Amino acid sequence: MTETGAEHPDAPLWHPGSPDLLVHGDNLAVMRRLPDASMRLIYLDPPFNTGRPQQRRTTSHVREAEPGDATAWRGFGGQSYIRTVEALTSYDDRFADYWAFLAPRLEQAWRLLDERGTLYLHLDYREAHYAKVALDALFGRDCFLNEIIWAYDYGAKSRRRWPTKHDTILVYVKNPKAYFFDSKEVDREPYMAPGLVTAEKAVRGKLPTDVWWHTIVTTTGREKTGYPTQKPLGILRRIVQASTAEGDWVLDPFAGSGTTAEAARLLGRRVIAIDESEAALAVMQRRLGLDVTRA
Ligand SMILES: C[S@@+](CC[C@H](N)C(=O)[O-])C[C@H]1O[C@@H](n2cnc3c(N)ncnc32)[C@H](O)[C@@H]1O
Repeated sequence: MTETGAEHPDAPLWHPGSPDLLVHGDNLAVMRRLPDASMRLIYLDPPFNTGRPQQRRTTSHVREAEPGDATAWRGFGGQSYIRTVEALTSYDDRFADYWAFLAPRLEQAWRLLDERGTLYLHLDYREAHYAKVALDALFGRDCFLNEIIWAYDYGAKSRRRWPTKHDTILVYVKNPKAYFFDSKEVDREPYMAPGLVTAEKAVRGKLPTDVWWHTIVTTTGREKTGYPTQKPLGILRRIVQASTAEGDWVLDPFAGSGTTAEAARLLGRRVIAIDESEAALAVMQRRLGLDVTRA
């Protein structure tokens, strides 16, 4: 793996003229080294099981500003954030542990988004409802943009309940009056009933709604990198197309196989991809042809 050396642990890792970055390290520490309002799009696809010893914590840390950052919580949902998170964490221990891991990373993501920026948080049915309430409180309810359902139909199916074949992607904007969204650039999809629209419309296809039918990355598929949780390029292309313009910066703190980074680079966007796993970095380096920065 080609590497560039680690700087001082607090030194800024990035400036607007930086090349695209592939960073090996814990995403919380790395995000803290990026400047305020520097990213147009942040996509997070965290693992549910963080692999760390789980510990119960109070949520008081969420209101502590970082040293020297007097404005750290400007724009947050204020008191309701604390109350909401405490209510959620007292209701479900498992979520409390997960939230202790995720909350400081989402707070960093909020800080890093610019005024026109958008956050996409990719979860499944086990956490999506808690996360939505918590994000409403963190960003403000008026900053909620969409709940995207990514539906697929692959693999074993339960006979004891409706087989669960979807993920949820929560979409929040930094500023509901200023956010960037360009539906013209989004890949269109076939009409379900093309006979009901004009031939011209049928050829052009339709704008996707908030329910995205898209196959997973199959074990024999063309896109396959071998990384177990790889997401389809088609999903990330849509996200990048809608929420950024050419030249904008995209951050993926849980980068895995580098799907977001690949979509961003193919579409002429700039990207920072972070992961703490050596295996992920090896896959991304092959896929993207970038050097690795060790944080
Ligand atoms: C669900 S996978 C992401 C898959 C990715 N979206 C893709 O398409 O390949 C989650 C990734 O987060 C990484 N990860 C988990 N905790 C992390 C942390 N604290 N800092 C950086 N990466 C982390 C894991 O190593 C894993 O690669």
